[in-house]
Amino acid sequence: MSQPLLPFDEPSENRWVLCGNISEVTEGRGLALEVQGVRLAVFYVDGQLDILEGRCPHANAPLGRGWLDGSFVVCPLHRWKFDVRTGECRTNPQKSVRHFQSRIDDKGLIWVDLSGVETLNDSAGFKSPQELG
Ligand code: FES
Repeated sequence: MSQPLLPFDEPSENRWVLCGNISEVTEGRGLALEVQGVRLAVFYVDGQLDILEGRCPHANAPLGRGWLDGSFVVCPLHRWKFDVRTGECRTNPQKSVRHFQSRIDDKGLIWVDLSGVETLNDSAGFKSPQELG
């Protein structure tokens, strides 16, 4: 998927990367994605989009495939709980995950700020949930 031009007018130090469309996200369910080699977990809870680092720090399970308990996602492997609003781990506070800044543009495209994240080059592109298996 080629990157469209950024839809934001203001100058920014952020590194906005397209990661999907809001139509792919179901309220109250997680979505596992990989963008430029970075695994992400996308959540839409109570009208708010949140994107977390997608690998559970315990044993690398995909947090986007966990289930939601209010605004917490429960890891599908060993049930550690993470706050989707902040990335804080309730089970083990030493093992929180990163919460990424995100936006939905007027076309419904979801953008995530990957500044400060080491990624593969742009040719690594975007993997849909289907491609992730
Ligand atoms: S892999 Fe997530 S709790 Fe073990």
